[in-house]
Amino acid sequence: MRSNPTDELIVILDFGAQYTQLIARRIRECHVYCEILPHHTPVEEIRRRDPKGIIFSGGPASVFETNAPTVDEAVYHVGKPVLGICYGQQLMALQLGGKVVTAEKREYGKADLSILEERPLYTGLPKYLTCWMSHADTVLEPPPGFQVLATTDTTPVASMGDAGRKLYGVQFHPEVAHTPFGKELLRHFVVDVCGCQQLWTPASFVEEAVDKVRAEVGSAGVVCGVSGGIDSCCVAALVHKAVGDQLTCIFVDHGLLRQGEAEQVRKDFAEALGIRLIFVDARERFLRRLAGVTDPERKRKIIGEEFVRVFEENADNIAGAEYLAQGTLYPDVIESGTSTAATIKTHHNVGGLPDDMRLKVIEPLRFLFKDEARAVADELGLPEAIVWRHPFPGPGLAIRIMGEVTAEHIDTLQQADAIFIEEIRRAGLYEEIWQAFAALAPGIRSVGVMGDSRTYAHPIILRAVTSEDAMTAHWARLPYELLERVSSRITNEVPGVNRVVYDVSSKPPATIEWE
Ligand code: XMP
Repeated sequence: MRSNPTDELIVILDFGAQYTQLIARRIRECHVYCEILPHHTPVEEIRRRDPKGIIFSGGPASVFETNAPTVDEAVYHVGKPVLGICYGQQLMALQLGGKVVTAEKREYGKADLSILEERPLYTGLPKYLTCWMSHADTVLEPPPGFQVLATTDTTPVASMGDAGRKLYGVQFHPEVAHTPFGKELLRHFVVDVCGCQQLWTPASFVEEAVDKVRAEVGSAGVVCGVSGGIDSCCVAALVHKAVGDQLTCIFVDHGLLRQGEAEQVRKDFAEALGIRLIFVDARERFLRRLAGVTDPERKRKIIGEEFVRVFEENADNIAGAEYLAQGTLYPDVIESGTSTAATIKTHHNVGGLPDDMRLKVIEPLRFLFKDEARAVADELGLPEAIVWRHPFPGPGLAIRIMGEVTAEHIDTLQQADAIFIEEIRRAGLYEEIWQAFAALAPGIRSVGVMGDSRTYAHPIILRAVTSEDAMTAHWARLPYELLERVSSRITNEVPGVNRVVYDVSSKPPATIEWE
């Protein structure tokens, strides 16, 4: 029998680190499947999943705090290799009888690592390496049976291991980019120590997911709401590959999309892939409900409610439909499911449907990170313009118009936004940017001069940010020449705009969107 990629599982126990998801992504980049579980997951549950190995994440606590997150010591007797990272190493050392102390000063930043024992974690790497540290507690002596594998000037046990029991620890963070050899170390752990086969690829994911969807859905109908974004288009294409014409997609055009986006979903996506699509033109309806509304949260609420209503009206009429496919991704699953995650996004997604829907929900992408969803979408043959498009908020342009949403404002904003994006693409910078867009401030007017006459019109705000995951972001250092071209094109080509400004705020303290 062929082995499924998800059978080669690494379990990551989360002790509350900011970087836990990053560990998971690095493991996946080694083509090995992994899942994040809370640190208090019962050991029986871990056994039941039969992982090939276990990783303890770092965490902000000190092992000496009352209520410090811990793990049942039975985990060391499951018979699977364990790698403790930072807090994970300190906890392992403490539980197994090593000596751990709290340093007076927190060590933070780059450190020079000397390797004492190459095998198995540092095989083939230079003897001296740069790594990245962030810790207060320090392991002074490893537990009985352990050997010191690496050291730094200030950290005597920067890495430790017990080859017999296959228990390892590192004080530094191999998952961050500042530890350049980190991915290599993680690969040595999952492949050489745990013996994982590197089966996790977009193609193998598609194969396994298609089988699962077929088995679950049988001959029933499936409904899927597509928004034009990567998540919903990817899930639709996947389900279509699994059950073909049993799938019906619903696209609600709320009129708050980017220029040409609705057409793109209809033509380049649905028609090109042969997916049946119900196209609902609800532009008038949304505009009517948004008339006179200026408060951002009210806009979100109205759009969310109206979306659900339109969607339900249409889904109810699809004969034989029993399932609803949603494009939920892994970060959403983790953020709503772990007690340790410090930051929980509360964004109201327009795709969020009520619990009392009669349809049963399937979420075939629920274990994928965004970059993996992109790779899967690519594998499924989705058009590049959809695969690589910048993220777009569910409430769309409504939260990029700082005031009332009117047909005229939407039109102005769409034109300005399209120019900005076109010029960014022409400069070859689109893929380097996480999100770029225009926002309109209809409540502001400024004086300008055009030809011989004075103007009194609105400004367009340009926003472009770089980011890994939208939790933090830097304003993008766009070339002046590019900004100049965009500014001059927008003021010349878009009626009612006489000024263009560029937003130079990072997140925090600003957010990516303006509302
Ligand atoms: P902020 O503005 O909070 O945005 O820095 C972070 C990311 O979330 C997107 N965003 C939303 N997405 N519904 C969504 O589906 C929303 O209400 C919403 N608000 C912001 C934003 O575009 C960025 O990618």
